Amino acid sequence: MEKKWWKEAVAYQIYPRSFKDSNSDGIGDLNGITEKLDYLKDLGIDLIWICPMYKSPNDDNGYDISDYQEIMAEFGTMADFDRLLQQVHERGMRLIIDLVVNHTSDEHPWFLESRSSRDNPKRDWYTWRDGKEGAEPNNWEGIFKGSTWEFDPQTEQYYLHLFTRRQPDLNWENKEMRAAVYDMMRWWLDKGIDGFRIDAIAHLKKEPLFANVPNPDKLRYAPSMKSHLNYDGLLEYVDDMSRNVLKNYDIVTVGEMNGLFADHAEEWVGEHRGRLNMVFQFEHVRLWEPEAGLRPEPAVLKKIFTAWQEALEGKGWNALYVENHDLTRITSRWGDTEHHWRESATCIAALYFLMQGTPFIYQGQEIGMTNTRFESLDDFDDVSVKNIWREMEAQGKSEAEIIAFLTHTGRDNSRTPMQWNSWPNAGFSDGTPWFKVNTNFEMINVAIQQQDPDSVLNFYRSLIQLRKQQRALIDGRYVLELPDHPQIYAYRRVLEGMEFVVLCNMSSKSARWRGEQLPLEWAECVLGNYPKVDEIYRLHPWETRVYKIS
Ligand code: GLC
Ligand code: CA
Repeated sequence: MEKKWWKEAVAYQIYPRSFKDSNSDGIGDLNGITEKLDYLKDLGIDLIWICPMYKSPNDDNGYDISDYQEIMAEFGTMADFDRLLQQVHERGMRLIIDLVVNHTSDEHPWFLESRSSRDNPKRDWYTWRDGKEGAEPNNWEGIFKGSTWEFDPQTEQYYLHLFTRRQPDLNWENKEMRAAVYDMMRWWLDKGIDGFRIDAIAHLKKEPLFANVPNPDKLRYAPSMKSHLNYDGLLEYVDDMSRNVLKNYDIVTVGEMNGLFADHAEEWVGEHRGRLNMVFQFEHVRLWEPEAGLRPEPAVLKKIFTAWQEALEGKGWNALYVENHDLTRITSRWGDTEHHWRESATCIAALYFLMQGTPFIYQGQEIGMTNTRFESLDDFDDVSVKNIWREMEAQGKSEAEIIAFLTHTGRDNSRTPMQWNSWPNAGFSDGTPWFKVNTNFEMINVAIQQQDPDSVLNFYRSLIQLRKQQRALIDGRYVLELPDHPQIYAYRRVLEGMEFVVLCNMSSKSARWRGEQLPLEWAECVLGNYPKVDEIYRLHPWETRVYKIS
């Protein structure tokens, strides 16, 4: 496979609103990010992805864009962005931005024109349909609940929106619309950004007839994913985008690709295909769904991660991640914050970080930030949480049940302000933060962890250094070890005579294995999250070790 800078990189995702406030208005901003670049560089970060920083009415915190070529006033100015980009490059790092083109804001001028009359030239840039018998054109339920259609009295038609009603979907069938999107992409690339994380790319293509979906439970609106998630023909749009824009630049692209399974991964990121460089696949994200139970069995994780590792070996590249702004905190979800917070945070870190692919760290993950406490509806901010709340209330669920559910699934958990130090507001802001700081900030923060050699932060630092020094940990083939062990997730990385073994006890009980199954007598333990190796074939709760074999 080709050598590429982004394969060697370690990436860091920033949610600007919650990262660092530089002007005391309580909202994180671009200058706040610039202030913290030395922190990221020092951690070993090479590539930064920032979530949307464009002009937006903030119905979905910036994922509803009203001008692709303007900066959200709360976040700063275009001059601030240019300085950020320049400062990133000056430090030898790279910056990618979020490309949100499945939909715009309902305040985007394209939509304002489109809705103005049935014969407006931009009418077809979005999807408009007549109602059926005084109701929506079909029974599709949206990703954030409710119908995917909104009636617009001005022209007496409905428009399609898979997310909130303030996020109308662009119509990718329309060639002029696509050309306008490509112009916008080139404008940013010519400015010097290093690539895109492509939002909701899985949904660009819709079932062309907009037919009703089966509705055996007689719901008002029925789950509609089958009609727009990774729908047949989607790759034609990706090819079109690649031909017109992506392939003409030396950049990195990561598509947010729900609905893609390992057996088709190569079609998306196969190196010779020239489509995308990586995808954020969702197979392990589904484990956040309530049916999956609270903590996944190691067997489930082994199956999913191994399938992706094997499917792309020698063919394409994985994006590795366990947190982002749409998920709850990983240590709260997969780990044990009550008894083994530090050990489980570091164990999960080693688990995903040393597989083959480019590892992404979500802000705060590197200090083991946890889920937060919500006491009432007012404590939440996220529009999807609010919709789920309404829906559960209508189903007769009690407030306590709803909060319990949202605590384990709600996106707000990862959106609390970054915990920098033990000062008021965790050092995030001198003003009143837009969103409540997690009350544990005096125990979990960057400043404390910088002083502590055994902290989660310093463990991440060591992981990053180790990966950078060892080619086998970048290019090496992944081989699952101890496949049937109920507690231990173990894998090997192999590259021309160099081998590493990563061992993770994914449980709060100690775990043993037999030396014949995975002998380590001659191996050197190069990283671990306990002070020393107490017993070679037994791991403490959430113990992780990395061994160099040869
Ligand atoms: C993606 C984003 C999410 C957003 C949605 C709609 O899933 O990650 O935050 O709400 O797209 O743009
Ligand atoms: Ca601010």
